[in-house]
Amino acid sequence: MWHFRLWEIQDVAVFLSIMLYMCHLAGAISIYSPQRSLIRSVQDDVIFSVNFTCSEIPNIQWTFMSGLVSRMIGTWQPGGYTNITEDYSSRVQAYDNGSMCLSDLRLQDGGFYVVTITESTGSSKDFGFVLKVNEVLYEDLQYLTVSFLALACLAGLLMLAMWLLDKAYKKIMACKRRREMPGDARKTDLQLGNFL
Ligand SMILES: *[C@@H]1O[C@H](CO)[C@@H](O)[C@H](O)[C@H]1NC(C)=O
Ligand SMILES: *[C@@H]1O[C@H](CO)[C@@H](O)[C@H](O)[C@H]1NC(C)=O
Repeated sequence: MWHFRLWEIQDVAVFLSIMLYMCHLAGAISIYSPQRSLIRSVQDDVIFSVNFTCSEIPNIQWTFMSGLVSRMIGTWQPGGYTNITEDYSSRVQAYDNGSMCLSDLRLQDGGFYVVTITESTGSSKDFGFVLKVNEVLYEDLQYLTVSFLALACLAGLLMLAMWLLDKAYKKIMACKRRREMPGDARKTDLQLGNFL
């Protein structure tokens, strides 16, 4: 009976130490973000806002993923070096809390963004964001509407001008005919008289 109890206590101790070890591994780094799903329009800026806690100064790495494409954006250390890849260097701002600002968004920027925080011991943690980039349809529509209205006005003016010209032409022709009518009639009469 005593023997059995001892074993139980040992089991519990082993179980607890395994749990503590796992907690230490998993809890060494924790990442927090107020918002993980973001929607922006073309040419907007976006801040992937995160904050983390860990036991030492880590490496922060951001990666972009869309379909089959996986692209490194940059790596930095809070208060240390910053290494942003050439494609992104003009558009990315790195923050010490791990956040990243991406400016002048394009349609192709839509996709998944993963931040990886790595300690020197090798333990690391990932945290993902989804970014959706919309086309600016509203401004396009406005532009189209204005163009359409301008063209419609132009067409209307042209039609009015043609209608006025047509009227004027008909009036002039009618006047001309009225002036020529008596002479013509006389001529015809004369011709008829000669014939008869
Ligand atoms: C991280 O830092 C940036 C810049 O100082 C700030 O805008 C952002 O809110 C911070 N994020 C969090 C989650 O604290
Ligand atoms: C910066 O990153 C690039 C690409 O990952 C790498 O080739 C280069 O050696 C890095 N430079 C520094 C100074 O860490």
